[in-house]
Amino acid sequence: MLHLRRKLPYRPTERMNVVSYPIRDIVMEAKREEAKGKKMIYLNIGDPPLYGFESFKVIAQRVKSALDENYKGYAPSEGDEELREKVAKIEKCKPDDIFVVAGLTEGIDFFFHSFIGFGEKVLLPNPAYSLYLSKAKQFEGDTVFYRHDSNGQIDIANLSKKVEGAKAMVIINPNNPLGSVYSEKNLAEVVKLCAQYDVPIFYDGSYDQLIFDGKLIDFRKIAKGKVPFIYGSSLSKVFNNPGARIGWVAFHGEKWEEVKNAFFLLCNQRLSVNWEYQKAAAAAITDPSYPDYIADIRKKLIERRDAFMRVATNLPLSFPVPGGAFYAFIKINSSKWKKDIDFVRAALKQGVVFVPGSGFGRQEDGVYFRTTFLPEPEIIEEAFKKIERIL
Ligand SMILES: Cc1ncc(COP(=O)(O)O)c(C=O)c1O
Repeated sequence: MLHLRRKLPYRPTERMNVVSYPIRDIVMEAKREEAKGKKMIYLNIGDPPLYGFESFKVIAQRVKSALDENYKGYAPSEGDEELREKVAKIEKCKPDDIFVVAGLTEGIDFFFHSFIGFGEKVLLPNPAYSLYLSKAKQFEGDTVFYRHDSNGQIDIANLSKKVEGAKAMVIINPNNPLGSVYSEKNLAEVVKLCAQYDVPIFYDGSYDQLIFDGKLIDFRKIAKGKVPFIYGSSLSKVFNNPGARIGWVAFHGEKWEEVKNAFFLLCNQRLSVNWEYQKAAAAAITDPSYPDYIADIRKKLIERRDAFMRVATNLPLSFPVPGGAFYAFIKINSSKWKKDIDFVRAALKQGVVFVPGSGFGRQEDGVYFRTTFLPEPEIIEEAFKKIERIL
């Protein structure tokens, strides 16, 4: 008997049943197609350097000099002092309110770990960046989705029915996967509701510099003094350096002391984040050439968004016009496809990799998929020509 048992493969724990990341999970299937000799266009992941977007140069320069200065040991768990001070200045709060994390990914993990308990209600946008769905399940929160209107704005009437009793609300702006940008007015209405019901906000500002048609939106100004919130960002999308794995969260408002202590413990437990890249982040976020750099990136993204619009609007597809970030969340306007995964697999056979819409929450009213429009216009065109025949 003992002998037989030894032959059985080891099994992961039950906890693993809720861990998923659909944005990368689909890649395994794509690689199998590639192994058969098929050329693949990867439109599944928002990884700007993969598509030729140059990272902000100051980062690599400062990483090199920081290594020469011997920033090779463990950094302070909560983050490099210089970086925390600089982020605090931008956030208009104290260095003690800032935690440096290994990409905002870790900040999101720490937020759910420290703040969302068993059965506690957490309001997520539908659709939402997949990681939030997975983390809410992992920490056994009760996910309640809030809706968007046809312009991709938060549907306030819908939210007002759901906000009461929530432990927290997550806002992603610009939104991944929708690509929509919530207006100041829309956000002010959300803040008012959250303040009324004492619901703090986790504001994911990963794409906050990537707004195309108008001025940037500063959520801090809208929410400060009205509702407690956490503002998160990173080097990944607005500095085009996701490989740095550096992000930060800023706690705003009076009520966070105990949660900040919990963050401290979580930071201690994983020792530290790459010190040389923290030094680079400190240099990057205050560098005077950044506004010109990011203005160029915005211009390039607008060109690519427009190229995407030119091809996609001629097909039986509908979506809110992306006003920021680099994604579109697309509904298929034909009855041919009943399940998003079937469509995504058919697209794979054509050589194009998308993410099924259900990876961002269950879509009740049809079949959806997400694309990025980061690649060069010719590649976007080629990809959408390929899927034209299966729509
Ligand atoms: C909305 C959103 N939040 C957070 C992240 C995590 O980014 P990172 O850990 O690279 O900072 C991503 C990555 O795609 C994202 O799209």
